[in-house]
Amino acid sequence: MNSLRIALPDDFHAHLRQGPPLRAYVARSAANFGRFLAMPNVVPPPVDGRFLADYGAALASAIAGSGRDARVLLSFKLVPGMGPEAVYRCAEAGAVAGKYYPAGATTHSSDGIAEPGQVSRELAAMQEAGLVLAVHGEDPAAPVLGRETAFLPVLDRVVAAYPRLRVVLEHLSGAEAVAAVLDWPDRVAATITAHHLAYTIDDLLGDRLDPSFYCKPLLKSAADRSALVGAACSGSPKFFFGSDSAPHPAAAKAAGAAGVYASPAAMPILAAVFEEAGALDRLEGFCSAAGARFYGLPEPRGELLLERREWVVPGELDGVVPLAAGRTLSWTAYRT
Ligand code: NCD
Ligand code: ZN
Repeated sequence: MNSLRIALPDDFHAHLRQGPPLRAYVARSAANFGRFLAMPNVVPPPVDGRFLADYGAALASAIAGSGRDARVLLSFKLVPGMGPEAVYRCAEAGAVAGKYYPAGATTHSSDGIAEPGQVSRELAAMQEAGLVLAVHGEDPAAPVLGRETAFLPVLDRVVAAYPRLRVVLEHLSGAEAVAAVLDWPDRVAATITAHHLAYTIDDLLGDRLDPSFYCKPLLKSAADRSALVGAACSGSPKFFFGSDSAPHPAAAKAAGAAGVYASPAAMPILAAVFEEAGALDRLEGFCSAAGARFYGLPEPRGELLLERREWVVPGELDGVVPLAAGRTLSWTAYRT
């Protein structure tokens, strides 16, 4: 197959940042995705309706400036002490999800949650309001390669305690997490990134240290990668695409920031992964259907054309070293 048209993909996990760089990051997302769920780890954090609405307006204005037809989906940051009223106000401001960051697990998460009991009233409010709980599933106290697995029992308790809460375990990285998601009821799903599907810890560390592959959760083993590919290509509605595109300029990367600027190359990389797995016919379900269904959104409008045409990923885009910089990818994506 030399070309493939799929319904326009959605990205259910994108860091679009704030301030001047936001416009370029939004334009880059809108080039390949019709909707993207904006992560709330900005400063100050969106923890009330007014601030969230302002952040949404900044993102919408950047979309308008990009000349693309796209829509941003909003999430608020779930923080201890915010209270149920703030949850309801975020829902009124258009939030579709609230994001659970274990305290200290990743970029701008020092105000996160030490244990779920700290946000029990807020979780109950999210369940009532029909909001999705989006979870960064890592226990920062565990050794770095075991952080995701160490968090699974915590999430298990949350899933059991709120029997109507819809939950998304974000950016799956390991085989144990895949198995856990399959075990949980249908109201628990997961996003998977292009980089966790295509690369392993050897891309990060195996030759020279390559910080453009450094993200939380870390890329893992070949066995973990194959479990993720199996899940993404299975056709199960529990697994859908979230890029976790997380741009950091060179200076921040040099200082050790975790995050991969994934949105520019994600779709060509996904096409190659699904092709290698003999599952190109399931790519559309993974990135253009399952997530929208889980979130209760209408079917996407528009199309993405994937062509088998080599594309050398530039060494720098928007002032950031993107995912797969300098590598030759076998597919090119065009929004039509
Ligand atoms: C993200 C970021 O930079 O905001 N970093 C990352 O490594 N994925 C935060 C996150 O999603 O963990
Ligand atoms: Zn993220």
